[in-house]
Amino acid sequence: MLKLFAFVVAASLALPTLAGNVPPALLFQNRCAECHGKDARTPTAKGRAAGAPNLAGGERSAIEVEQVILHGKGRMAPIGMKLSPEQVGAVAAWVARLQ
Ligand code: HEC
Repeated sequence: MLKLFAFVVAASLALPTLAGNVPPALLFQNRCAECHGKDARTPTAKGRAAGAPNLAGGERSAIEVEQVILHGKGRMAPIGMKLSPEQVGAVAAWVARLQ
């Protein structure tokens, strides 16, 4: 089961454009958790070293989060090219809803 999960994650990392129906929470795990933490609230050591914030609390609109993904902000590099436009919108909306 773990192997299957690892394969699915690896496949969706390798083929982002084919993963159009990946749930936003999984997109977050694949693309954002590395720095912001799996729960989006607890930045990893790598994230903390660069100043990655807790993303929960609904302080940012989906549009604002989308802009950060597409254009980067401060010490976060743009990451939009690794996602389809639909995925950027979906993960941004997911982050904006986190209470
Ligand atoms: C390589 C590490 C890294 C990854 C991967 C990463 N971020 Fe970030 N993120 C950061 C850092 C560092 C900051 C703080 C930037 C600053 O203010 O200098 C940040 C800031 C943010 C902010 C807050 C901007 C603000 O000030 O309001 C949002 C929203 C955000 N990231 C969303 C995401 C999303 C969504 C993803 C995945 C699609 C993601 N990040 C992936 C490192 C990362």
